[in-house]
Amino acid sequence: MIKLWENETVEWNVKFDFDGEFLSIKTLVDENFRHILSISLGKSSELTMDRVKRATAKAVKTLQGLGVASLLFDAAPVIELLGAESIAAIAQGAELSDYRQENWKQQKASGLKIFIDVAQCVDADAVLAHAHALIRAVCFARNLVNCPANILTPKEMTRRMTEAAENAGIETQVIDETEAKALGMEAFLAVGTSAKHPPRLIVLRYRGGKPEQAPIALVGKGVTLDTGGYCLKAADSMRGIKGDMAGGAAVFGTLLALAENHIPVNVTAVIPAVENRIAPDSYIPGDVIGSMSGKTIEVLNTDAEGRLILADAVTYAIRCEKAAQVVDIATLTGAVVSMFGFTTAGYITNDERLNRAFMEAYSRSGEQYWRLPDFPEYRSLLDSSIADISNVSSGGCGTITAGLFIGAFTEGKPWLHIDIAGTAWVGSPVFEYQTIGATGAGVTTLYELCKSFS
Ligand code: BES
Ligand code: ZN
Ligand code: MN
Repeated sequence: MIKLWENETVEWNVKFDFDGEFLSIKTLVDENFRHILSISLGKSSELTMDRVKRATAKAVKTLQGLGVASLLFDAAPVIELLGAESIAAIAQGAELSDYRQENWKQQKASGLKIFIDVAQCVDADAVLAHAHALIRAVCFARNLVNCPANILTPKEMTRRMTEAAENAGIETQVIDETEAKALGMEAFLAVGTSAKHPPRLIVLRYRGGKPEQAPIALVGKGVTLDTGGYCLKAADSMRGIKGDMAGGAAVFGTLLALAENHIPVNVTAVIPAVENRIAPDSYIPGDVIGSMSGKTIEVLNTDAEGRLILADAVTYAIRCEKAAQVVDIATLTGAVVSMFGFTTAGYITNDERLNRAFMEAYSRSGEQYWRLPDFPEYRSLLDSSIADISNVSSGGCGTITAGLFIGAFTEGKPWLHIDIAGTAWVGSPVFEYQTIGATGAGVTTLYELCKSFS
């Protein structure tokens, strides 16, 4: 954790400069024989919070590589240009790059001590405390996503989320198989009963806003493992399947940070938690199933399971939680990875106001998103000859049609759908503040989005 510096002796001092190319590094020994690492933020006229975050992360990783045990950031030049909030960017860069995933090795990594000198900045304590809550939430989400699926079953994910939520003063409710059946959640159950480990619908209510204000619903895909079901994935595609609950982890992390920072807004998270496996009586291609909304669905591919559980979760959020607007987030399609790679998530929305708020939110968080079209011609690719809708497209456009499938269950509410299949985890880091594996994608942006509605 990064701490305010109180004259502790450190091995290395990190300075920011504006010389040369962004992220270029120089090392030197000063007149007092102190080790200095100087990292460039690029031109001062082009300085952004994101650049501060990335440069900080690079400095930490570089010094970690040298086996350094303690270091100190001189934040003064950055605070002077960007204000006290830049302390949050430094904290994020330092701590997110220093994240170590929970592991089952017997030897644990040693802790790096990171300090920050904020000169005379009076707001530093408050900014740092808020930043830490958000960073903890990102790391909590990363831990969930990195956790192997034999350990993180729907039940265990429920236990971890409800425990942390209750500690943060968030109201929790867990809907089990029997209750889901009573609610008519046939699409959720079609996937959820494909495994011995039973499904759970996790509902978390953070009420920091006015009691009469209808909540924003954050709906996150919680597939704790995705084999593809009877449309079994190939061995190579099966390696990342434990991370298919990254959307659920993102909405959970968002709620945790909002609650810890007492943001005055009402947000309800709905996380359908299931395994997508093969059981003797699992659903198979060709089946027609019902849903909580009443719509019937022709299942043409059991590997398109995320949209099925999300459809019922969205209906639940609107009808039972009375959500005023709905944001869903999911590792939904391989197609978004082909389109945007690992740097950018795709999104769809039916509402211009929500779109503007979302654009503002990701410009603050520094995450990258790109909007996809929702033309009616795409919706007709989901037409079925025997049911109200089909769960796969008859003509490609996989990311758009997957989103529009969920959109068919939004009952006219302002809605925004995010596909993080490419950004939820990285084989090798794309941005400096990432580490191998889960990225915690979505948490910082959804936090900014909800905060903007407070
Ligand atoms: N969870 C996967 C999507 C995915 C793919 C996430 C690669 C991360 C990396 C999802 O459930 C899935 O299998 N989608 C299918 C949909 C298809 C059958 C219509 C896909 O994208 O191939
Ligand atoms: Zn999936
Ligand atoms: Mn799948």
